[in-house]
Amino acid sequence: MLAVTPQRMRMIVEGFIDVLELGLEKEGQMVPMLPTWVFGWPTGEEKGSYLAVDLGGTNLRVCEVELEGNGKFAITQSKYKLTDEQKVGDGQALFDFCAECLASFIQDHYTNEDGSVLLDKDIALGFTFSYPCVQERIDHGLLLRWTKGFGAAGVEGQDVVEMFKKSLQKNNVPVEITALINDTTGTLMASHYVDPRTRMGIIFGTGCNCAYVEKVKNIPKIAHLGLPGDAELAINCEWGAFDSETKEYLPRTKYDIHIDETSNKPGQQLFEKMIAGLYLGEVFRLVLCDMIEEGVLFHGQNTYKLDKPFCFDTALVSLIEADSTDELLTVIGLFSHFYSLETTVEERKFFKRLAVAIGTRAARLSACGIAAVCSKMGYLEEGGCGVATDGSLYNKYPKFPERIHEALVDIFGEKGRLIHTYHAEDGSGVGAAIIAAMAQERKAKGLYPQV
Ligand code: BGC
Repeated sequence: MLAVTPQRMRMIVEGFIDVLELGLEKEGQMVPMLPTWVFGWPTGEEKGSYLAVDLGGTNLRVCEVELEGNGKFAITQSKYKLTDEQKVGDGQALFDFCAECLASFIQDHYTNEDGSVLLDKDIALGFTFSYPCVQERIDHGLLLRWTKGFGAAGVEGQDVVEMFKKSLQKNNVPVEITALINDTTGTLMASHYVDPRTRMGIIFGTGCNCAYVEKVKNIPKIAHLGLPGDAELAINCEWGAFDSETKEYLPRTKYDIHIDETSNKPGQQLFEKMIAGLYLGEVFRLVLCDMIEEGVLFHGQNTYKLDKPFCFDTALVSLIEADSTDELLTVIGLFSHFYSLETTVEERKFFKRLAVAIGTRAARLSACGIAAVCSKMGYLEEGGCGVATDGSLYNKYPKFPERIHEALVDIFGEKGRLIHTYHAEDGSGVGAAIIAAMAQERKAKGLYPQV
């Protein structure tokens, strides 16, 4: 049920390429291919001190980034936990919380001994907001829809920069929002800053998405702006939405359908829901629940602790696969500690195979997205490309990168080896600072808002 054959992958890639092109051609498509108004690449010589706020999925992070030029930087940061109530409560209150955290960060890092704030002018801030936003310019963005289980009221359809500004004013925070950034675009730029081979920035974390750089002449939907055709513009694909309307490419199981239908956004982000860290543990749990129902697991035990949706974190699935002991000792501990369940060695071996199957499927589907962008852009013909990748799944799930590479060979044959994925630089912090610096420079040169 969880297998994705090479033939199926090639079929998905074909469909994916069409969908990417459609998003560049017309507004309002399923995969929206959003212009980010980040033009070209960083030179590596961007310098200066910037603030970054990163509202991603799990935490809120505030960073101070010192860009030193030569592809070098230093970063100081604080993390703040977001509660489930904040994710789905009042939208303005969520931005108020971001502003309060930023205010306390500034208080801690920019205060003189007498308590006065040590800033002579508003400091430039890159705001990494990793949800699909339609941007008219770099410091603007209408939230298309929440993803990753967020649902804060009164934000969809609104300009999130304006909402954040309102909260900053309320808290007298001395910053200027220079750029609104998606984490994938940040990843792309931060990684290119240190390694110019980078062509794509991808996040495999709580959510999943990709950004790359496109020539303006290949983006028909912005032709009316009259920008130079050879100018290069970063595109936030928002590929997590792939197949959400078509529903004809992805091999969805009853578990995927259940996850989607019981989510706060049914019918949206169907590709993401089969890949991202937020969902893989739930796929695992649903398979277990099905087998409990059939009477083939945990004989004679009370399994009520597995009944709660999302109680099986994807991190546990990684741990199960990573257990290399013959008896699968970590798996014993994990089931007895978290779910008060005894396991037989056969059950544990099955759990490990299930973890392998779920992780492998996610990696193979991910490879389809990478292959689609590579084919569309002709990167293989140019001798290959670098794919900067970040997120807990890529960094922590056993063999995730290896499985992506195997799948790329299944899709392209030996040529697939020309695509290199590697761990990215911190896109949401350093990337945000680099993009804020690039935006500031364009503004200083009068190349604003767009061209
Ligand atoms: C969001 C993207 C984001 C990705 C990774 C998705 O749910 O729609 O904007 O880049 O998660 O964080």
